[in-house]
Amino acid sequence: MEEIYKETILTPLGVAKTTGFLDWDTQPSPFKHYPEFLFGYDFGKIEALKIIELSRSVTDAQQLGKKPYYRLNTPSAGNLHPTELYVQIRGVEGVLSGIYHIDAKDACLVLIEEIEKEGIEPYVGLRHRFKGMLFVVSMVPFRSEWKYGKRAWRYCYLDAGHQAGSVLAAASATGQNATILSDIDSEGLHTVLGFSDEEYPVVALGIGEESERGVVHLKKALMHVCPLDYSEGTRDASAYLLAPKISDAKGHRPEKIEEETILGRRSARRFGTEVLSKETADFVASLLQEVPEPLHAWQIWIHHPSRPDGIYRDGICVDRWEYA
Ligand SMILES: Cc1cc2nc3c(=O)[nH]c(=O)nc-3n(C[C@H](O)[C@H](O)[C@H](O)COP(=O)(O)O)c2cc1C
Repeated sequence: MEEIYKETILTPLGVAKTTGFLDWDTQPSPFKHYPEFLFGYDFGKIEALKIIELSRSVTDAQQLGKKPYYRLNTPSAGNLHPTELYVQIRGVEGVLSGIYHIDAKDACLVLIEEIEKEGIEPYVGLRHRFKGMLFVVSMVPFRSEWKYGKRAWRYCYLDAGHQAGSVLAAASATGQNATILSDIDSEGLHTVLGFSDEEYPVVALGIGEESERGVVHLKKALMHVCPLDYSEGTRDASAYLLAPKISDAKGHRPEKIEEETILGRRSARRFGTEVLSKETADFVASLLQEVPEPLHAWQIWIHHPSRPDGIYRDGICVDRWEYA
C-alpha cells in the first residue's frame, strides 16, 4: 500500500508529465442501470425507504454544452462518482425483502433478487439474518482512472468513504443508528453481487439488528450488469480487493444531521472579492480543529487579517510564508 501511495503522490514533475488533453465526450457513464424489466420502488413513495434516498440521490441537474451534468448528495473528485450503492432489505414492513441497487439518476431502488433464508450476511461478518438494511458501497475505478490515471486509487477510496458517510448522515437524519461492518469478505461479495473486473465492494454498513434465525449464502450470484458504457481496463484488481478495508474512524459519529443539510450540500466554489468575516473564519477554523483521529485537516490561509499566512495543520500554523 505504501508503494502505491508513493507512486501516486503529487509532485510538480509528476503533474507536468501527466498533464494532457481530456476529451469530455469520452467520459465513461457515471451511472449504473439495471434492466428496466426489474421491479423497483420510486423515491418518495415509502417512508421506510427515506433513508435510502437520503443516502444517495441526485441533488442538482444541469445541462453543460450537449451533456447533462448531475451532482449528488455526496461530493466526488472531479464529479466522476466512481461508486455505487446497494442495499439488502429484510423484514421491513411494506417492502419486498431482497437485494436492491440504488439508482440515483432514475431516483429509484431496483430489486435485483428477492431473498428469504439466504442473504449477504455471511459476507459481511454476520451469522444470523439481519432485520433491517445492509448497505454495500462499491467502487467503479475506471470512472475516475479515465481522468486521474493511477492516482484514481486514492479518489476511489475517498469517494467510497463519502458514500459510507452519507449513509451515516442519512441514518442520523432519520433517527436511526448505522454500524460500519469492516469485517467484509471482499472476494465473496465481489462474486455474489455479480461484479466483474470493473467494480469492487469496499465497505458495508448495517441499520437494524441481527435476529436469532440462521442465514445461508446466496444460492447463486446476482446478474452481472456492467456499471460503465465502456472501459479501457482497470489497474490490478488485487489493489482494490486486498487493500485495507474502510473502518470506523474511532467510532466518530456526526451530530444530528438534518435532511435539508444532506439535500442542500454543495462544494463551495464561489470566488468573491470580499474578505471572510473574522467570525466566519474562526468558525471554519474551529470546525477543522475537531477532525477525529486518525485524520488531520490541512489548510492554507492567505491574506486573511485574522491569522498569519501559512500552512495550518489542525488549526495550528506549521509553516509561515513571507510574501513580497
Ligand atoms: C477528493 C476530492 C477532491 C476534489 N478536488 C477538487 C479540486 O481540486 N478543485 C475543485 O474545484 N473541486 C474539487 N473537488 C470538489 C468536486 O469537484 C465536487 O465535489 C464535485 O464537482 C461535485 O460537486 P458538489 O460537491 O457540489 O456536488 C474535490 C472533491 C473531492 C471529493
